[in-house]
Amino acid sequence: MDLGIRGRKALLSGSSRGLGKACALALAQEGVDITLVARTRDVLERTADELRATGVKVTPVVGDISTTQGREAALAACPAPDILVNNADGRLPGDFRTWTRDDWISALDTMMLSHIEMMRLTVDGMMARGFGRIINIVSRSVKIPQHELALSNGARSGLVGFVGGLARQTVARNVTINNLLPGIFDSDAQRQHIRGMLETTGKSFDDIWRERAAANPARRYGRPDELGAYCAFLCSDHAGFITGQNLLIDGGSYPGTY
Ligand SMILES: NC(=O)c1ccc[n+]([C@@H]2O[C@H](COP(=O)([O-])OP(=O)(O)OC[C@H]3O[C@@H](n4cnc5c(N)ncnc54)[C@H](OP(=O)(O)O)[C@@H]3O)[C@@H](O)[C@H]2O)c1
Repeated sequence: MDLGIRGRKALLSGSSRGLGKACALALAQEGVDITLVARTRDVLERTADELRATGVKVTPVVGDISTTQGREAALAACPAPDILVNNADGRLPGDFRTWTRDDWISALDTMMLSHIEMMRLTVDGMMARGFGRIINIVSRSVKIPQHELALSNGARSGLVGFVGGLARQTVARNVTINNLLPGIFDSDAQRQHIRGMLETTGKSFDDIWRERAAANPARRYGRPDELGAYCAFLCSDHAGFITGQNLLIDGGSYPGTY
């Protein structure tokens, strides 16, 4: 299927590794010019080189998207994106009794407010141009609270609640906004998450790794390229009637029918 987005411009934060990188690669393979944002220069530049092999224009931007400077640098490199993919770090497991107000503010900045700010800075231009696709990489935690990830349960729920309202105000101008909710994926963040569970569970890394896969109906972790392909379709010309949705990609781990 031709996704009909060749020549469009995409701005993706959190895109040098893992799920964000997979989204960037899937879009580049469809002929979309790519601006990548991440904090670690060498990894970012390696990823940019990989993406250039697809033949599209790739612009790497070193920056922290949870800061004003990071967002300004991203938009200076790609001032009028047709496609915006918002992604950044999650938070490690912990107990809410130990978290301070600053911990919460930092989680809100990374998982909610920076995404909202990027939408504020781009959505009106998309509406004026008559095309826009915004994807937020969120987490299944907004549908299946993860006990050890209360910062994520809380901050990400704020994001999807906000998107539910905004998405209905932009779709008539062909600007859609959807949230992708990953379950367990084979990525650096997954490994970091498991390392954060070693102390409280007393289990080994390998045992937890295996148990998490075994508990999933698919009996495995998702591959980042599977999420990248989903993202690219949602960013396509064909997906203009899909908006305001919280879309699980989790091997069936969400146990409900609806
Ligand atoms: N993997 C899973 O199973 C899973 C499941 C549910 C939800 N999620 C969530 O999905 C998101 C992506 O996960 P992942 O597995 O792809 O993570 P990952 O493999 O650790 O990759 C994260 C990417 O984001 C960049 N990044 C992180 N914070 C950033 C910031 N503040 N500004 C700019 N770039 C930033 C990282 O590069 P630098 O570090 O160099 O900046 C890297 O490119 C995370 O929020 C994660 O919590 C993941």
